[in-house]
Amino acid sequence: MPEPSLRFTVYTAAEKPELLAAINQLSRISFPRFLFEGDRDISQNWDPIMERYPECQFALFEGEEMVGGGVTVPLAWNGSIDDLPDSFERILDTGERETPNVLCATAGLVVDEHQGRGISRDVLLAMRNIALQQGLSSLIVPVRPNHKERYPLVAIEDYIQWRRDDGLLYDPWMRVHERLQAKILKIMPQAAVVRGTIQQWEEWTGMKFLSDGTYVVPGALTPVEIDLAQNEGIHIEPNVWMEHKVRD
Ligand SMILES: CC(C)(COP(=O)(O)OP(=O)(O)OC[C@H]1O[C@@H](n2cnc3c(N)ncnc32)[C@H](O)[C@@H]1OP(=O)(O)O)[C@@H](O)C(=O)NCCC(=O)NCCS
Repeated sequence: MPEPSLRFTVYTAAEKPELLAAINQLSRISFPRFLFEGDRDISQNWDPIMERYPECQFALFEGEEMVGGGVTVPLAWNGSIDDLPDSFERILDTGERETPNVLCATAGLVVDEHQGRGISRDVLLAMRNIALQQGLSSLIVPVRPNHKERYPLVAIEDYIQWRRDDGLLYDPWMRVHERLQAKILKIMPQAAVVRGTIQQWEEWTGMKFLSDGTYVVPGALTPVEIDLAQNEGIHIEPNVWMEHKVRD
């Protein structure tokens, strides 16, 4: 089947290098601060990986206005469930890489004031086009289910199976993938491991942590464990691998 057509103009950072900073900035304001500052692999490797693969970073434009974008990285994957990266450590690895055969998304982004207009589908189509242009076979995505933060106490295994009355997945971002025929592969239980001091967690969340325990914090998909004696809060974020095959 031919790919659905895109409704926006796409520029990669290879075509317009000045867009790299704008795409990176949009990434950083689209996710909770603790993810970018508290996960070692994300905080250290995000910028170098974006710079290394400018042809994989893109922005969507409506006229003169940037309305969305995406961050992706080429990856070698042998197609088996066991070979999928088990965290952002391998996805964002800045060392020597095997010859890539798939494109891996690390962020799908829609500018805040343009959310709710159906643009996220075009973000995924732009990623799939990049995969096709680069001769890659699939777009694989560690999906961050965007409404899981509303249900932080529900097990991810249960949440990703929730369906609406019409049979489609409950989670809006997973549903956008599903509508484009992507398939769920498996859960990545420890996609991001966020560690911070109590002071950092207080800054990141605007909350106070005055006793040990398990806390629900804004933006987190699962609770955060606070240990005052260790001066540490730990949060482990699960994501869900989904695959869009772009060629047979
Ligand atoms: C996740 C994100 C890309 C989705 O983009 P969006 O523009 O908000 O979503 P869309 O308008 O394309 O809608 C996608 C689906 O979500 C639904 N949706 C949108 N806003 C919603 C809301 N507030 N409540 C419930 N559903 C909503 C839409 O109805 C649509 O579902 P449908 O196809 O069944 O109608 C965007 O919210 C975003 O950039 N978030 C921050 C970064 C992020 O979390 N990225 C994803 C992880 S990488």
